Amino acid sequence: MKKQTDIVHLQEQLLAWYDRQGRILPWRIRPEDRDAGQAADPYAVWLSEIMLQQTTVPHATPYWQKFLVEFPTVIDLANADRDRILTLWAGLGYYARARNLHKCAGVIRDEYDGIFPRTEAELLKLPGIGPYTAATIAAICFDEATNIVDGNVERVVSRIFKIEAPLPKARSEYRRLAGTLAPQKRPGDYGQAIMDLGATICTPRSPKCADCPWQGHCEALKQSRPTDYPKKVKKAKLPVRHGAAFVLRHDECVLLRRRPDKGLLGGMMGFPGTDWGDIPTEPLKSAPINRNWEKCETVVKHVFTHFELRLDVYRAEAMDKSVNGVWAPLKDIKDFALPTVMKKILSVSNA
Ligand code: ADE
Ligand code: SF4
Repeated sequence: MKKQTDIVHLQEQLLAWYDRQGRILPWRIRPEDRDAGQAADPYAVWLSEIMLQQTTVPHATPYWQKFLVEFPTVIDLANADRDRILTLWAGLGYYARARNLHKCAGVIRDEYDGIFPRTEAELLKLPGIGPYTAATIAAICFDEATNIVDGNVERVVSRIFKIEAPLPKARSEYRRLAGTLAPQKRPGDYGQAIMDLGATICTPRSPKCADCPWQGHCEALKQSRPTDYPKKVKKAKLPVRHGAAFVLRHDECVLLRRRPDKGLLGGMMGFPGTDWGDIPTEPLKSAPINRNWEKCETVVKHVFTHFELRLDVYRAEAMDKSVNGVWAPLKDIKDFALPTVMKKILSVSNA
């Protein structure tokens, strides 16, 4: 716990730092923009926050821009073809998020007259909007004094307070302490400031404490051990799943099929294959046709959130294009927006 006078000081120092050095981001209304009468667009902020949950600002920015050009409003997104959304999303990963994005836009169109709800509690009811996103939109767009906690905030707070309890078990403790610092005034700027601080100054491996507006109040720095925090419970090794994928070619095209809606990479395009689980005993039974399949030497490895996948890749030439699926010309393969693991399969089959 910090003293109330220290807390006020911390808030002032961070907001002053943000006014000087906060990042300029395309969806962000800077304090000077707001003084000039601009307001944050909840749709634009929501899109950016969903994308940023899984990746960095530089990686997400071009995706965000493409989405806003093609779907300028939440109604446009709700009316869009879901497969088009998945295509634009390809490369961002976590495809359930893209499906929820569409679902959420539909709910806002149908149940909220196309207008985002204005409170954390209401936002939390929407599909795909969890505690982090609800708190962030409510603070940035509607000035609600919420407690914004993401991975950046956890890291900063762990160092400021020198929290010894490890993540993820003690997450509620980190949240509670983060809440003791969050101000009633300018909650959106404060939340973005502390996330910027984590992303640019208080970084995981080499924090730039000399440039930090909070260096005078940081318990971890006092002990010269910022990178000892946050403490984490050692992760168990990920389980391994196995499978096979089939790259069937004909006439400079490859056979793709859309994956079923349910499950991993649901609704995305990909190569046909076995289920993923134990080592398949008769993988060729899952092949799209009977051919003399050649097994490629390299095994594809891909890490998902909950398991590591190892895929044997088989390739063959088809006699014609009668096998059902989408025959994608290799020269246009970019337009098919393959998830990363499918790109790896293609690359192994070309080797
Ligand atoms: N990371 C995710 N959302 C952010 C935001 N609004 N500002 C700074 N960093 C972020
Ligand atoms: Fe992070 Fe260093 Fe600032 Fe402490 S002083 S909050 S460790 S950057």
